[in-house]
Amino acid sequence: MDKFYITTPLYYVNASPHIGHSYTNIAADCLSRFMRLKGKEVYFLTGTDEHGQKIFRAAQQEGLSPEEFVERVAPRFVDLWGRLSISYNDFLRTTQDRHKKTVQYVLSILYDKGDIYLAEYSGWYCTPCETFWTPTQLSSPVCPDCKRPLEELKEKNYFFHLEKYRPWLINFIKNHNGFIKPVIRRNEILKFLETPLTDLCISRPRARLEWGIPLPFDADYVTYVWFDALINYISAVGYWYDEKKFGRFWPADVHLVGKDILRQHAVYWPIMLRAIGIEPPKTVFAHGWWMLGEGKMSKSKGNIVDPLELVATYGEDAYRYFLLREIPFGQDGNFSESALISRINSDLANDLGNLYFRTLGMLEKYFSGEIPAVYPPERILEEKLKKLPEELDGAIEELNFQQILISLWELINLANKFIEDSRPWELARTKQKDRLSCFMYNLMEVLRIVTICIYPFMPNCAQRLWKQLRQGRGWGEVNFADISQWGLSPPGTKIEKGQPIFPRIM
Ligand code: MSP
Repeated sequence: MDKFYITTPLYYVNASPHIGHSYTNIAADCLSRFMRLKGKEVYFLTGTDEHGQKIFRAAQQEGLSPEEFVERVAPRFVDLWGRLSISYNDFLRTTQDRHKKTVQYVLSILYDKGDIYLAEYSGWYCTPCETFWTPTQLSSPVCPDCKRPLEELKEKNYFFHLEKYRPWLINFIKNHNGFIKPVIRRNEILKFLETPLTDLCISRPRARLEWGIPLPFDADYVTYVWFDALINYISAVGYWYDEKKFGRFWPADVHLVGKDILRQHAVYWPIMLRAIGIEPPKTVFAHGWWMLGEGKMSKSKGNIVDPLELVATYGEDAYRYFLLREIPFGQDGNFSESALISRINSDLANDLGNLYFRTLGMLEKYFSGEIPAVYPPERILEEKLKKLPEELDGAIEELNFQQILISLWELINLANKFIEDSRPWELARTKQKDRLSCFMYNLMEVLRIVTICIYPFMPNCAQRLWKQLRQGRGWGEVNFADISQWGLSPPGTKIEKGQPIFPRIM
């Protein structure tokens, strides 16, 4: 059995999750569900990033110890993922033992190899971004990324040699086209690698920050939060403590990340892996940002939209659908509730909902709800049905969720047109039973195929529909390849008409 190892970033627990976080996890979930349908053994990892200055300060502000604070906030992520049906296999918290030990193990290897050295350092630090800036990178003491004031620091710290790995990384990226996606991000990273890399500061003196994983070779220091967090991708799958699991799942197939944290994943991380003698992940995909008005939605800007509220109002399926349909994965987009409502009304209530409700209603009316005998596909649908599996496979491969849905909606709209063109009421009135049966069987097959394809996007709705269609097989037995087969709807089965799946929102 093929495997598929997919990861999301570990979310900082300094505040509650917002739309941006849910976006990555919904995308990862959708892809995981496609891969499971394709018969792969999926390992889907998500989790929380719990160390570092930012978390420490957030805890202080609440009057809590960092331990108490992370215990309080991490469950909010677990709850939201439950509410959004995120089917992860593993939830890693950087405060877990398996992770802390792996980080220390990696640090020991690098230290023993001479890739880590101690040096005096002076620079400017941005706490919200957990990033050091050297004077040459700055024209004023303001963070070039988030534009907030920087703090000046001078201290002894441990550094990781990056520069010596730069030629290797450039070569690797050039020889592995699929390593950084989309292409525009790959080019950005190659451009960034044209100039020498500053070595990465990987420690924080305990005197300044206690909240981190102690360095195994110097008790006066803890590990820099980014260096700690990146290692999660191997600590989750058993690097050094479970050889079999690690051998099975590493290299990861996809790291999904936002474009703001691409450099850590496409430069630091592969170099860290190279230094400890491990293969890089197959793909790092950087998606775009959800914006609200002018700026990126973020907890520090205070312009966040709470996913739980949207889910309570519009339902999880519609929310998931909207995020993956509205903007191409990889590009930025503006969030607005009115855009969400119009997607629900046009795509879900109108196109998809009507197709189901009308088809099942007609089957009830003309055939007492019983699926007629197998008939061959009608010409108007046949061509699209033939192309569909290949179109979807291509778009899945590229993580082009929007394209998957566009292609699927072409089929849905064709089927709706087929209903109108066929004038079933006329066929019934003139007792053309054979033509009516053929018409109905075609539509039932389209419903079967559409239900399979929408499942990764809207798992709950698809599961309900699958039951209504009385397909007889559970999701465990459904395979994605079933969409290329005609005639799997079992004749003689009695379906359940049910209620409209997505009522219009006024
Ligand atoms: N803890 C680090 C990641 C460590 S991974 C080893 C981190 N955490 S974060 O909580 O700040 O952000 C996590 C992810 O959420 C990032 O991929 C980021 O791009 C994404 N998003 C945060 N705000 C976002 C939007 N407004 N829109 C889309 N995604 C955004 O960085």
